[in-house]
Amino acid sequence: MEKVLDIQNLHAAFSIQKKDYEVLHDISFSINRNETVCVVGESGCGKSVTTLCIMQLLPKNGKIQSGSIYVDGTDLTKLSKKEVRKFRGKKMGMIFQEPMTALNPLLTIGFQLRENIINHRGASKKEANAIAIEYLKKVGIANPEQRLKQYPFQLSGGLRQRVLIAMVLSAQPDLLIADEPTTALDVTIQKQVLSLLNDLKKDMNAGILFITHDLGVVAEIADRVVVLYAGRKVEEGTTHQIFKNPLHPYTIGLMNAVPNVDLDEFEIRPIPGTFPNITEKIDGCRFNPRCPHASSCPKCFETAPEMIEAEPGHFVACHLKK
Ligand SMILES: Nc1ncnc2c1ncn2[C@@H]1O[C@H](COP(=O)(O)OP(=O)(O)OP(=O)(O)O)[C@@H](O)[C@H]1O
Ligand SMILES: [Mg+2]
Repeated sequence: MEKVLDIQNLHAAFSIQKKDYEVLHDISFSINRNETVCVVGESGCGKSVTTLCIMQLLPKNGKIQSGSIYVDGTDLTKLSKKEVRKFRGKKMGMIFQEPMTALNPLLTIGFQLRENIINHRGASKKEANAIAIEYLKKVGIANPEQRLKQYPFQLSGGLRQRVLIAMVLSAQPDLLIADEPTTALDVTIQKQVLSLLNDLKKDMNAGILFITHDLGVVAEIADRVVVLYAGRKVEEGTTHQIFKNPLHPYTIGLMNAVPNVDLDEFEIRPIPGTFPNITEKIDGCRFNPRCPHASSCPKCFETAPEMIEAEPGHFVACHLKK
């Protein structure tokens, strides 16, 4: 199977008051063509940082310390800034968690959509206009012809997010990265956007990296799931494996935190304890302060568990699963 994204042993750090703190530790995973992978985990576990490493858009105090990020076979960590920009434009699209920053306030929606389509698809201005209208309709925007003449500030936050989604999808990237793209949208539009992403995956044979807090969305859209905890991958498997047979105590905790509609049980049970910040040092498994099983296993406090393949395609890093 052709990998559109292949991350190998990625380590990244932020410098805070001149000291480096590791934010991603030895992250590896890949995405095939015609596949959607969801990265899940609590706030602060490193989901957005992972996407920023791939896009090579880390903030100034952040850096990739080691590892490789292959997109369509090219290692982005080996390219110059200029080469990365060119490559990104051609192959990759990203829907950011914060859409305000991604649109230029001084240019009309139409100008930005058309330019993007012309650059990515080699369309003429007239064709680009028609494609722009088509995609605004696809994301549920009424009167697209009028909208094209407007500036970002004339649109509500939800509309701006949809314009951004239309812009990224209309460029038909090989690799699409979407960081919480639907959180601000109402349920109907959210469903529409998820179905558009599925179309992109199938019709364009694209790979999609999708980040969300919402496990209902994961179940709907993901082919495979990567679970991060405090900057480490703790589990990976097909969506079926992760939902039916979660192995890491953290993944099991995440699953328990979802209200169970079948059992008429709507109460959300959060995982006890708090999430460590990146400056906190924890020996052994990073999850040990919150793990319900660690107290009976001294190893959990001594060494970090290695990733093992528990069943074909299902990986977990937990001493108790050996
Ligand atoms: N510029 C920065 N400088 C220092 N630390 C940072 C910076 N940006 C992010 N971090 C830290 O890196 C860690 C990972 O952040 P990240 O934004 O990837 O989390 P996330 O999983 O996307 O969370 P959320 O679900 O809230 O979006 C967090 O502990 C965060 O505080
Ligand atoms: Mg984030």
